[in-house]
Amino acid sequence: MHPAALFPADRPPSIPRMGHSSKTHPESEAWQQFWTGRARGGEHQFRDPEMARLLQRHWTKVFTESFNGRQDVDLVDLACGEGEVLALAAETAVALPATRLQAVGTDVAWDAVALAAQPVGDVRPVPAVADCARLPFSDESFDLAVSQYGLEYAGAEAFLEAGRIVKPGGRFHALVHVKGGAVEVSCQEVADLLGAVIEIALLDRMSDFIVTIPRAVSGEVSGEEAQSCADALRLALESVARVTGGAAPGPARDHVARLVQDCQSAAGRLGAYRTEDLQVWIEGQKAELAAFEHRMTSMVRVAQSEERLRDVVENLKAVGLEVSALETLAIEAGAPPLAWVLDARRSG
Ligand SMILES: C[S@@+](CC[C@H](N)C(=O)[O-])C[C@H]1O[C@@H](n2cnc3c(N)ncnc32)[C@H](O)[C@@H]1O
Repeated sequence: MHPAALFPADRPPSIPRMGHSSKTHPESEAWQQFWTGRARGGEHQFRDPEMARLLQRHWTKVFTESFNGRQDVDLVDLACGEGEVLALAAETAVALPATRLQAVGTDVAWDAVALAAQPVGDVRPVPAVADCARLPFSDESFDLAVSQYGLEYAGAEAFLEAGRIVKPGGRFHALVHVKGGAVEVSCQEVADLLGAVIEIALLDRMSDFIVTIPRAVSGEVSGEEAQSCADALRLALESVARVTGGAAPGPARDHVARLVQDCQSAAGRLGAYRTEDLQVWIEGQKAELAAFEHRMTSMVRVAQSEERLRDVVENLKAVGLEVSALETLAIEAGAPPLAWVLDARRSG
């Protein structure tokens, strides 16, 4: 039985420890929160179509090369998210009648692997919840180990783990966030916008407002107190609208603009809502904003410099893999890089 079959799709297994330290990398916690209860299409709302097409072309080429001439292929997608790369692998295999693909999708978040396990043709990816720094797979158990913007969240050991599980004759191929690259720059812009909104504390002002105004109506607090609360909310709304107006277009700006509108509309029709319902809504919005900002800063933190990736390459060579010269992926020559391309093979 394939080791990943130990984790059935209908129940969240605990993260296998496999005799390693039980400490999970801190970057993974925001991701677990991000995927909880999310439907497919979650992560890709942040990716522009040109970049999506480039990634798709890249993986289709990698899979076509790797599957050609092989009958049975064992593949694992590491930090697979909702399974975009797995789906491309499956589509490529379905188009090659001689290839039988056995795919495993592994991620630290149960809700992500559950999405990634959706079948494509007769390929049914097996979900495995795992920290990529401590994979629950035997040495040399996969023909192809792949990862797209994933391993770097699990730290440098994750690259060695990926190399460890590749069979003789097999391949490890990863796309990795680039320090100073296009994705890092746009994540930093989004993180700055969301950080500014959090600092303005709009949702705290909204929370004060929804509690104070009904109390002023019932005479429990003075008119001056109610007025100063309303002024504080108005100032916060104006500040957030100002920073949003100066931000680059995209999902983060739309998210914040919607938040401003919702606050304005709720504040203008307080009588239409129960205070408790609004408090729950405010807490939900705060958590979402904090998780979004944390995820953006974590993408910036994990982006790899050339020096760090060269260390990864040396480490993989030291454990016997042949590693191709480092390259980057970009929309066109001279454009800011979107990813490091790491390609390694185990001879045999
Ligand atoms: C930027 S997303 C990429 C997802 C997917 N590979 C893709 O390209 O659509 C990063 C993924 O890494 C996962 N992740 C974060 N830390 C991890 C860890 N320590 N081990 C395994 N997966 C992790 C997250 O849950 C998330 O799905």
